Formats: sequence, C-alpha cells, structure tokens
Amino acid sequence: MTEIAFLLNGTPLRLSDQPPTRTLLDYLRETAGLCGTKEGCNEGDCGACTVMVNDANGPKALNACILFLPQLHGKSVRTVEGISGPQGQLHPVQSEMIAHHGSQCGFCTPGFIVSMATNHANGRTDHDTTLAGNLCRCTGYAPIIRAATAAESAPIPDWITKDSEIPFAQISSGGEAAGRGGQTAPQNSSQKNFSALRPTNSDDFADWYLQNPDATLIAGATDVGLWVTKQLRDLPKPVFLGGITDLQQIERAGGQLHIGAGVTIAALREAIAPHHPSFAELLRRYASEQVRNAATIGGNIANGSPIGDGPPALIALGATLHLRRGDTLRAIPLEDFFLDYRKQDRRPSEFVAGISIPAQAPALRCYKITKRFDQDISAVCGCFNITLDAGRVTAARIAFGGMAGIPKRARAVETALLGQPLTPETLATARTAFAADFQPLSDMRASAAYRLTTAQNLLTRYVHDLAG
Ligand code: FAD
Ligand code: FES
Ligand code: FES
Repeated sequence: MTEIAFLLNGTPLRLSDQPPTRTLLDYLRETAGLCGTKEGCNEGDCGACTVMVNDANGPKALNACILFLPQLHGKSVRTVEGISGPQGQLHPVQSEMIAHHGSQCGFCTPGFIVSMATNHANGRTDHDTTLAGNLCRCTGYAPIIRAATAAESAPIPDWITKDSEIPFAQISSGGEAAGRGGQTAPQNSSQKNFSALRPTNSDDFADWYLQNPDATLIAGATDVGLWVTKQLRDLPKPVFLGGITDLQQIERAGGQLHIGAGVTIAALREAIAPHHPSFAELLRRYASEQVRNAATIGGNIANGSPIGDGPPALIALGATLHLRRGDTLRAIPLEDFFLDYRKQDRRPSEFVAGISIPAQAPALRCYKITKRFDQDISAVCGCFNITLDAGRVTAARIAFGGMAGIPKRARAVETALLGQPLTPETLATARTAFAADFQPLSDMRASAAYRLTTAQNLLTRYVHDLAG
C-alpha cells in the first residue's frame, strides 16, 4: 500500500488503498463519482478526460486517462466539476461557451472547458495550439475558439487562483522520505514504500534502481499509460520519476544547454524557442498540449521509438546523451544509443539522466511530415544541420525518424554533401544517396516509396530554406 495525497477540487484527499497504476480517470469516475470527466479514447488522443493539475510550476492541462494516481502526489487537481465556483457561479469560459454556442452533443465539452480554463489561468491566447488536443466531432472549432477568445480578458476567478496559492509541500507532508539529501528519514513502513515509489532526488533513485533493476520507470506515462489502458499489462515495481526535481533542470554552460531527462516537452519547447526556433516549432506539433505537459524528453529518448520527434532533432544538433548507473556516469553521442528496433544501449539499472546540445545552431531546420497538421505522429521527420564555409559544406548532420527501425543519421547523404557547394548537381547526387542510408517500411502512415521521395524532397526544401 502506498499513500498518495492531493487536493481534488479544493478538498484534501489521502489515498492508501489504490494500486499504483490506477488512472486518475478511473478513480474519478468509478470511486469519486465525478463523471463529468469523460472517457473517449483512453489513450491520450481526444482530450475528453482533460483535468487541470496545479503544482509549483502552475496549472497544466493533462489527460486523466493516462495519468496514474501517484503522479498527483502533492498536487491540486481540478475536474470540470470544480471549474465553476462554490456557489455554482460559471467560469468565464463556461459563460462564453454558452453565449457562442460552443457545444452540441456535449461529450467533448467538459474536456474543452477544463483546457480553456487552464489556458485562461495561464494567460494563453494561442487557442489553435492549446485546444488541438481536444477533439470535437459535432460543433466544430470556430464557435469554441470564439468563446475562448471572448473570455480572454475576464479576470481569473478566485476559486481557480486559490489552487496556485496552496503550499504544495503541505499537501504531500508526511509522504516524502529521502536518504542522502539529508531530509527526514522514513518514519514508518508505508512512507519507506512511498519513497521507493516516488523518489525525490536522482541519488536516491540511482541507489534504489541498482538494487531493483527489474523496476518499471515511469516519467510522464504518455507511453507507459497505454501499456496499462490498452495492453492491460501489470507493471512490475513501478517507480515514478516525476518527483525528481534535479532531473527537471535546464542549464546553460560553456555554449551548451544541459537538459535533464525529466524536462517535459512543453518546458523544453519554451526553453529552446530562442535558441532553436525550428526545433521549438517541431515540438509545437508534438502530440497535444496535454501530452506535451506530461511527456518528458528522457522518456521520448528512452523508449527508442523510430518515430519519436525528439531524437532526429537532437541527433542533428549533435546531442550528447548522459546515462547514469549507481554513481557511474556515461556520456555517448545520442545516435549511438539506438542500436536496433526498440533496442537501446542501456544497461541494467542505468537510466537516462539528460542530454547536452549546443546553445546555437542557426542552420538547424526540422520538418515533420504527418497526415494531419496537429496531434499526429510523424510519417517522416527530417532534421538538417549543415555548416557552410565559403559556399562549401564543411559539416553536415542529418537525421531522420520514420525511415528506419531507429532514429538514424543519413551518413551517405552527409558524405555526398561534404566539401561540395550546394549546387543542383550536388543536390542530385545527395538525393540518390538516400537509398544507401534508408530502406523504409510501408505502414499505415506512409508507403516506403512516399517516405524515400519525401526525405529527398526535404533535403531540397532545406537547401531552399537556407537560401531564404
Ligand atoms: P513514459 O511513458 O513515462 O516512459 C516511456 C519509456 O521510457 C518507458 O519505457 C520508461 O520506462 C522509459 N523511461 C522514462 N524515463 C526514463 C529515464 N529517465 N531513463 C530511462 N528510461 C526512462 N511522441 C512523439 O515523439 N511525437 C508525437 O507527436 C507524439 N504524439 C503522441 C500522442 C499521444 C496521444 C501519446 C499518448 C503519445 C505521443 N507520443 C509522441 C509518444 C510519447 O509522448 C513520447 O514517447 C514521450 O516523450 C514519452 O515520455 P514520457 O515521459 O511520457 O515517458
Ligand atoms: Fe481520450 Fe483521455 S479519454 S484523451
Ligand atoms: Fe459533440 Fe463536441 S459537441 S463532440
């Protein structure tokens, strides 16, 4: 048994009888009787289950269907039932949704309302982006966006701001335990258990993982959540990394950005926008606001997916991957981590600690090709980073997702470019080199021929892009 403490619509909850991989959505609908939060896809795609989760980093919209209860420890959760005021006062986004006829069948509406209230609390006005993870089949987006826009200037209701004033440490008090960090030692067996389930610093976690190599690491759970909700798997020894704040830092030193494995895609997108705008734009199209708020860059690398969006951009940037096993640190070029389909160079008890990338790479361009603009997985993701000196290519890093069983560098294409001017002749030679680098598969996202042609065309597009 493990203890989880959080606020639910302003009311403190302390749960000690819940399995660690029970989702918040199941808890809300089946135990708490809060059925306003809907289940649509149960895999993070539709946003019907959106809840507002507040912690020291402010309010975030998250999908409750792939959010495990221990991930909420020390936080405050607001469901659609808690978006209106204690006396039933409507939130401004609710009044505007009514005024603008933003709801028809209403199934998606609670999710939209929670997303809109969260964006309102954060002062976000990029509604096309922030609402891309809420799917509506009948009303259509125009009235909903109009409602969100109309609510922008209304003050944030005090019952929402109150969540940000909560001393989060107080919510979780008694639950945390730590060894090396000099914090309070565990008081009883349930607290000790809890510490193992949700470590708060990477030293403790590294020690524990050394003794428990069969543990299931869970960061944002945007992959692992589906192992439970779709594959109905029992996860051995789940350990939640979300409390390890030292893995959530981004630091700049010596011309490099050092990014902790626990940095979310949303935080990464914001932090790199001034450094690598094209990478940040790629991340805007990574899943949805709700998924970006949960997913971590460490999870995106560690899962070894051949269609993940982070690795191609990071490989093109020349990222160094930092791995840790106990007290032993290992740094390798990111491209060497991916050995074969879903096979990574990660040893037992070793975890991804972070990555380092150059702070500047003005020639980096990232292109994500999908069937839909928003909220879609890449058919092909191509990232290019070429250095020119006196009109000739002096360095080239080109990496693709969706073209092989792993995220992979286009070494033959790079070789064809090195030392050459970017003329039509060089381009023609480099385009033929793609076939040496990649023999892509046909699947539901794209055919092999489409992938190969698209990759070649992306090189042409890149050269035009560089030329302005
Ligand atoms: P988790 O699900 O917690 O873990 C993923 C894997 O990594 C697990 O094997 C876990 O054990 C391991 N792991 C996690 N952290 C570490 C660590 N520090 N060290 C070692 N192992 C670790 N991905 C894209 O790239 N682009 C998309 O557009 C995209 N769209 C998506 C849309 C939806 C609806 C969903 C549900 C997912 C989508 N994904 C997409 C996939 C997913 O968001 C990413 O792979 C995500 O980055 C995983 O991070 P996480 O923190 O959620 O990892
Ligand atoms: Fe579809 Fe959760 S039910 S995102
Ligand atoms: Fe019916 Fe949106 S109102 S799905």
